[in-house]
Amino acid sequence: MTPAEQDPNQVLIFDTTLRDGEQSPGISLNTSEKLEIAQQLARLGVDIVEAGFPIASPGDFEAVETIARQVEGPVIAGLARIHVGDIDAAWNALRDASRPRIHTFVSTSDIHIEHQMRSTREDVIGLTRAGVAHAKQYVDDVEFSPMDATRSDVEFTAEVVQIAIDEGATTINIPDTVGYTMPHEYTAFLGRLYELAPGLRDVVLSVHCHDDLGLAVANSFAGVLAGARQVECAINGLGERAGNASLEEIVMLLRTRQADIGLDTNAVSQEIARASRLVSRMTGYAVQPNKAIVGRNAFAHESGIHQDGVLKNRETFEIMDATSIGLDSNSLVLGKHSGRHALRDALAQLGIVVDGATLNTAFKRFKEIADKKKQVTAMDLEALVTDELREE
Ligand code: KIV
Ligand code: ZN
Repeated sequence: MTPAEQDPNQVLIFDTTLRDGEQSPGISLNTSEKLEIAQQLARLGVDIVEAGFPIASPGDFEAVETIARQVEGPVIAGLARIHVGDIDAAWNALRDASRPRIHTFVSTSDIHIEHQMRSTREDVIGLTRAGVAHAKQYVDDVEFSPMDATRSDVEFTAEVVQIAIDEGATTINIPDTVGYTMPHEYTAFLGRLYELAPGLRDVVLSVHCHDDLGLAVANSFAGVLAGARQVECAINGLGERAGNASLEEIVMLLRTRQADIGLDTNAVSQEIARASRLVSRMTGYAVQPNKAIVGRNAFAHESGIHQDGVLKNRETFEIMDATSIGLDSNSLVLGKHSGRHALRDALAQLGIVVDGATLNTAFKRFKEIADKKKQVTAMDLEALVTDELREE
């Protein structure tokens, strides 16, 4: 995707579940599992699938190559450090893709340059110039990331970014690698980059935020408001340490508030629940019950006041429709906070119509059970409404 081809009101979704997501401790997916996830990501309508890091292992290479050959629709990206060997490996894995992208990166923060790379800023400049030019020999679509950008000197980052653009990078990604920045700080950093690296206006600006302080989605959104038109994110928020920005939260934030923000994505949101379940099953990472969008409680109501409101008009306590992420419906969970209205509705769904004094008796019994149990099930309800009660 070149910047000129992109609709200015569309935010590209770059999914990194199979690369940064797979870097979550304990996750190791084989090629057929990665292929199945990549196919679901294509159904979900993500624009770019980062399929892996081909130099990292023969298994990663094979997975990227397989996805490049078999998954149609999204751009398929492979990650490479800014070294010839990495870039060659990425190209060899990607060469059969209809739309390949090489994503190459090098650190720009002094802490990384001195202590991790044991190198110098001059060296980073030389590596960027040579590396982006090398990648560009293979593909038009080159993404460059100055790693640990948000802890880097903004002037030096801008210098490196402008060199990458001059050498042909078409997407510039500004990672908050350690999840350290805050929304207002990220906005200012990106604004300053626009001033210092004029070429940034001719490429796609991307954001890649980690969740160490729980700000990955907020920072990504700040980046979008500052001009970014690509968000790097992962299903269920998987990724190094505390993870990456969660794809489902970014997509549903832009979709739900589209009228106010004027931006949207190409995502088919009805595929979100399926993608979340698939990734959770294959990675063995359970989704926390209260996780936004895809947690099992995200569309469940327990309190009487909320249940009563939702039964009268869904919008009283719901800002999204469960069907918009591919669930059948919202759910009213019966527990000790539930009210008479929800009980009558749940009984009616079991074919048991009760009202008046009968409902009052049933409700009293229901509260006694609910005090002892966290959740009252259909079996409990059937037992609660005895034959005697039905005859009343
Ligand atoms: O977090 C990060 O900086 C990365 C880069 C490789 C983009 O994952
Ligand atoms: Zn990352």
